[in-house]
Amino acid sequence: MGDSRVPRDPLLPTHWFNILHDRPQYLTSAVSRSRLAGAVKAAGQGALLQQPLSLARQSINTADRFIPIPDEILDLYAQYRPTPLRRAVRLEEHLGANARIYYKYEGANLTGSHKLNTALAQAYYYSRAGVKHLITGTGAGQWGTALAYACQLMGLRCTIFWVRSTLRQKPIRGEMMRLFGAVVHESPSDLTEVGRRALKEDPEDIGTLAGATGEALALAAEDTESRFAVGSGENSVLLHQTVIGREAVSQMAQLGDFPDCVIACMGAGSNFGGITLPFLGAAKDSSRSVRLVAVESAACPKLTRGRYLYDLSDSLGTTPVTKIYSLGSTYVPPPVYAGGLRHHSAGPLASAMYADGSLEAMAIDQVTSFRAGMLFCETEGILPAPEAAHAVAGMIDVVSRHPRQAAPLVVLVNISGHGLLDLGAYSRFAAGEIEPVTADEDSLSLSLSALEEFNQRIAEPAEAT
Ligand SMILES: Cc1ncc(COP(=O)(O)O)c(C=O)c1O
Repeated sequence: MGDSRVPRDPLLPTHWFNILHDRPQYLTSAVSRSRLAGAVKAAGQGALLQQPLSLARQSINTADRFIPIPDEILDLYAQYRPTPLRRAVRLEEHLGANARIYYKYEGANLTGSHKLNTALAQAYYYSRAGVKHLITGTGAGQWGTALAYACQLMGLRCTIFWVRSTLRQKPIRGEMMRLFGAVVHESPSDLTEVGRRALKEDPEDIGTLAGATGEALALAAEDTESRFAVGSGENSVLLHQTVIGREAVSQMAQLGDFPDCVIACMGAGSNFGGITLPFLGAAKDSSRSVRLVAVESAACPKLTRGRYLYDLSDSLGTTPVTKIYSLGSTYVPPPVYAGGLRHHSAGPLASAMYADGSLEAMAIDQVTSFRAGMLFCETEGILPAPEAAHAVAGMIDVVSRHPRQAAPLVVLVNISGHGLLDLGAYSRFAAGEIEPVTADEDSLSLSLSALEEFNQRIAEPAEAT
């Protein structure tokens, strides 16, 4: 255990699980910049390419099945990990389910969600590389809060562009980010060209995560001591999140069970990958199978209604262009309360898993998810974040379809964060003021056409230079 300062629970994993070792086919390559020339107005800074080597290597490592977690990160993990894994007995009784329902709870840390698992790792690697300032875009605000706190711990400055629609829903979360020393901007902002362009087109623009990310990338490109930190989608981020699943595999084994089905909500895939990937490894090792279900927002159904094509993750066009399930980076999802599920695309790894049939997807509307969140609160004593409530709703759907006469279904659901800063949304739900919002069809068809056109253009041979 080295010279750890914080006592460590034996269940705390000392290594992250790297799925790329077992499934190197998931390592999708990015479109080269020469092919992109002319197809996208790229800033050309390659901000993600300026990651420290340690992080960049983690995203492409196919050699090591397990990657050691540095001691400094383990000491910080040990303050809140292992996180609880419990059986949801009262929920089972309420549903009359022919199932054993387990949940893993990632909300029991200061910042309130799984996002801290990668925020600590990234702040550590960047500070070791001499970076002084991390900049990011955040949707639900959970990632921004986690990064703000991690930066404070590692002595880094932190700037956050927060999607306008969500920032206005829960200003108190902004107070939390500021408490940890971060500078918080509403996105679109007039600080960057991307933001100014969006505001010029529509001064009332509600913002998107692609836009906030684009603003963060633009600001990060302005000085050499700043870098952009990414909250989800990247392989290295999913890797850091595998502490969730590695713990859960051991905790389920202690309880003498193994899940038939693991369920998590899908933003760009980090909590989904975090809980599911180690179960793929464990299933392989024990010649079992495990069903994986990703639950997305009906307002932003990138898996169930998107295309598997090359697309941008940000509206600036600086991040690598990879093959992903996407609704197109210009799609503006309606302003649902699960801001963390409003990303237009799934990350490359989750997309590759959906493409080869390793995961199933379902889209849930926000009324159904708030109802499930309230039920989980009443029966299990935990109020899930609106994103996590989608996972609960998906799990209830899976369990309710399981035949009565079959053997009980063993399901595990990840409660990726708490909803204690989302009380306003829950109150509006309780007052019957929330609508079951689905995708914006006009924005969707325009955006999908633009995505297809973009793919035709990058398929054409690049001009000789
Ligand atoms: C609590 C919570 N769960 C899930 C998500 C979805 O993101 P990801 O797919 O990266 O887990 C978010 C994103 O902000 C979140 O805050």
